[in-house]
Amino acid sequence: MQLLKNRILVTGAYGLLGSNLLELSIGNYTLYGMARALRPDVNMPGIEYIEGDIVDRKRVLDVIKAVQPNVIINAAAYTNVDGSEDDREACWKTNVDGVANLAYAAKLIDARLVHVSTDYVFDGTKKSPYKEDDRVNPLGFYAKSKLAGENALIAAGANAAIARTMILYGKSKSSGLNFVTWVIEQLRSNKPIRIVDDQVGQPTLASELAEALIKLALSDCDGIFHISGSEALSRYDFTLEIADLFRLDKSLISRTTTEALQQKAPRPMHSEFDLSRLQAELGVTMSGAWAGLQKFKARYPLI
Ligand SMILES: NC(=O)c1ccc[n+]([C@@H]2O[C@H](COP(=O)([O-])OP(=O)(O)OC[C@H]3O[C@@H](n4cnc5c(N)ncnc54)[C@H](OP(=O)(O)O)[C@@H]3O)[C@@H](O)[C@H]2O)c1
Repeated sequence: MQLLKNRILVTGAYGLLGSNLLELSIGNYTLYGMARALRPDVNMPGIEYIEGDIVDRKRVLDVIKAVQPNVIINAAAYTNVDGSEDDREACWKTNVDGVANLAYAAKLIDARLVHVSTDYVFDGTKKSPYKEDDRVNPLGFYAKSKLAGENALIAAGANAAIARTMILYGKSKSSGLNFVTWVIEQLRSNKPIRIVDDQVGQPTLASELAEALIKLALSDCDGIFHISGSEALSRYDFTLEIADLFRLDKSLISRTTTEALQQKAPRPMHSEFDLSRLQAELGVTMSGAWAGLQKFKARYPLI
């Protein structure tokens, strides 16, 4: 008898995380990718793409009832941290109402929902790595919306887990620039860049996060998990590592501070994660910064 394949629906199908989740899973599961607008030019064989905005409750219900996934992974989000300060309604609708819609639909058909959140739910003032149950205190509007999304999911009472992550990088056919690919692009074009040396976090390779999320999705663990690269370093030090590995001109990189950069949204300065729950309950170990970059380069040698 052939075992039934898991049916996995990924929202944010063309985003950095969503596309990594789908690419990695081709052949192993029956895959559906939901996106606001279809992009046939970057579609991958082995994935059925479906148009749908997560803010539209009726559309979400129709898609989920039609597809009958046993697992839904929400990688869709309003992710423009600074933009959210001015574009509050759009941010809230996607990051809170959208999550509530998915939770409602998941509960209705008894599907499991894994939702992705952020280290920005913390204010960054804790002196040791953040555990999942540490006190939250989001600083900017994006961060507040992500925390409200977590709470909407918990309130819905669906079979669900939340994965908080940070500083995602990687590549796919459809994804746009992220911190690492931006640094590479700037340095390759001989453009000087100024990078903050006072924001410390754990860079996370999107494909590694995707593997961990699939594991979480297929487990029966619930609650919140911290999932990120295992090593904390400043953006500046991470940029030097990128330049080293890709043999780029480090003299183009100079230090700056968050205060001098004047980013619109406030951010936590130190948001290291304690990854012990991930290790203990899912047996997942994440790479440090250099090892993650090496994996990335090995996977995309032509970048
Ligand atoms: N990137 C990071 O450093 C980082 C750090 C911490 C946490 N996270 C979290 O990780 C998750 C994945 O982030 P990412 O880096 O992969 O983001 P991303 O590349 O910006 O992708 C987000 C995707 O969501 C889609 N989307 C936005 N609003 C939507 C809506 N209303 N309905 C359906 N789709 C919608 C976007 O589609 P369009 O192209 O149509 O806008 C895009 O494809 C998010 O929950 C984010 O908050 C990311």
